[in-house]
Amino acid sequence: MQNLNLGRSEFGHSSNRGRILSESEAKALLESWVPNEKLRLHMRQVSHLMRIWADKKEGLDELQQKTWEQAGLLHDADWEKWPEEHCRRIIEELEKREVDPDLIHAIASHGPRYFGVLPVTKIDKMLYAFDELSGFIHAYSLMRPEAYEGMEIKGVKKRLKDKTFAAGVSREDVYDACERAEISLDDLIRFIIENQIRNYTSC
Ligand SMILES: [Fe+2]
Ligand SMILES: [Fe+2]
Repeated sequence: MQNLNLGRSEFGHSSNRGRILSESEAKALLESWVPNEKLRLHMRQVSHLMRIWADKKEGLDELQQKTWEQAGLLHDADWEKWPEEHCRRIIEELEKREVDPDLIHAIASHGPRYFGVLPVTKIDKMLYAFDELSGFIHAYSLMRPEAYEGMEIKGVKKRLKDKTFAAGVSREDVYDACERAEISLDDLIRFIIENQIRNYTSC
């Protein structure tokens, strides 16, 4: 990720609380901003994990589950076309469209070392936690002949210790995110293995 300090900590407006994009608006935005299907899969994976976590672990209502889901779905929407402006561009777009401030804050804090915005709430912390690690686990699945089948926590941890594997994934961020979310690395890995979308079909 680029080092773009957003230089602010307030995002969106409180009067927009509870407002998210419709499914067709979100889809249209992704279609025009993200032609790369690998990046779309990454966002779908994070969004799916966010929704399940919001439901099963946090017991949140339908609208909140969708808010978590949409934060995952759009968090890297500007990465392909404007990498040097990531994630300012998508934040400004969502502010313009009067989207829920919590959703925008979650996107703004998904890379605290890069964007200068700390994850504060649970939605922030889980987006940060799922982002790098779900991508890492997907990379691991691609090098296994059995893909996700029979994947074990210890196999993922072994790869995390191997600095040459998926070198672009910051281990520092993975561990930091677990600490902030107060979740053990084992639990997070297990949740991702069990719930991750495994292929492109739903992108
Ligand atoms: Fe990102
Ligand atoms: Fe991401």
